Amino acid sequence: MMKSQTILITGASHGIGRELAILLARQNKVIALGRDRQALTDLQNLYGIIPLVADLENSAQVNNVINTVNARWQELSVLINNAGIQQPLQLSKMDSSAAITKEMQINFLAPTILIAGLLPLLQQQYSARVINITSILALSPKQSTPIYNASKAALHNLTQSLRQQLANTTVRVTEVIPPVTQTGLSSADTKNAPSAAWVAEQILKGLEKQQNQIAIGQARLGLWLHRWAPALLRAKLLNS
Ligand SMILES: NC(=O)c1ccc[n+]([C@@H]2O[C@H](COP(=O)([O-])OP(=O)(O)OC[C@H]3O[C@@H](n4cnc5c(N)ncnc54)[C@H](OP(=O)(O)O)[C@@H]3O)[C@@H](O)[C@H]2O)c1
Repeated sequence: MMKSQTILITGASHGIGRELAILLARQNKVIALGRDRQALTDLQNLYGIIPLVADLENSAQVNNVINTVNARWQELSVLINNAGIQQPLQLSKMDSSAAITKEMQINFLAPTILIAGLLPLLQQQYSARVINITSILALSPKQSTPIYNASKAALHNLTQSLRQQLANTTVRVTEVIPPVTQTGLSSADTKNAPSAAWVAEQILKGLEKQQNQIAIGQARLGLWLHRWAPALLRAKLLNS
């Protein structure tokens, strides 16, 4: 179990991030970032989690987060890039440019800028970690969510470069690939999917085992198919 760390987790107001924040807050100082002030205040009142209200779509606010963390939590040792959105989008529609920018900003640019802005702090610690939450759609797309797929592919690829660049440092880099989970991420029917609380528990188990890539539930099967039967995975996900 991770303990005595100072952890910044984005997208901690709802879904997987919220459950992860609650579990981690048992033995760590957790800073929960999101836009939903009330949800973050509830986490503070119930679990002693520190709220940090910010909109990752806004690059000035992303820079503010970096400045605030550098000023207030110089002991920061873990960054979890969990916040994400998923939009159904038709690229043939001329009015989709704002939606494209928004999704790339929240899912890829903001995590990347947070990493770059917080690495100087993380590298000062005895040991530290960057954890990026991606998706099996990074490896094999779903046709209705092209920018989501591409943003997660970019984050997946960046995670690998980052791991190479930090290989001789005290900062470990971990990728988490959750399965379809019962959260508000998409409008898909997820009633038979695992709960966010279960997924959060599996993430902690993977971290305990020091795995570089933590694939959970159906995502483990997805990874296996990606390697050995990619056409089957493509057929399974394309219209999922
Ligand atoms: N659920 C799945 O099936 C699934 C599968 C694979 C991967 N994932 C990945 O897992 C991660 C968590 O997803 P989830 O299912 O838990 O989603 P969720 O329940 O919709 O929660 C998303 C979180 O991201 C935050 N967020 C969204 N836009 C933001 C913005 N502009 N600024 C700051 N925070 C923002 C939300 O906070 P506010 O509302 O407070 O802004 C919320 O806390 C995502 O990266 C997702 O891509 C999910």
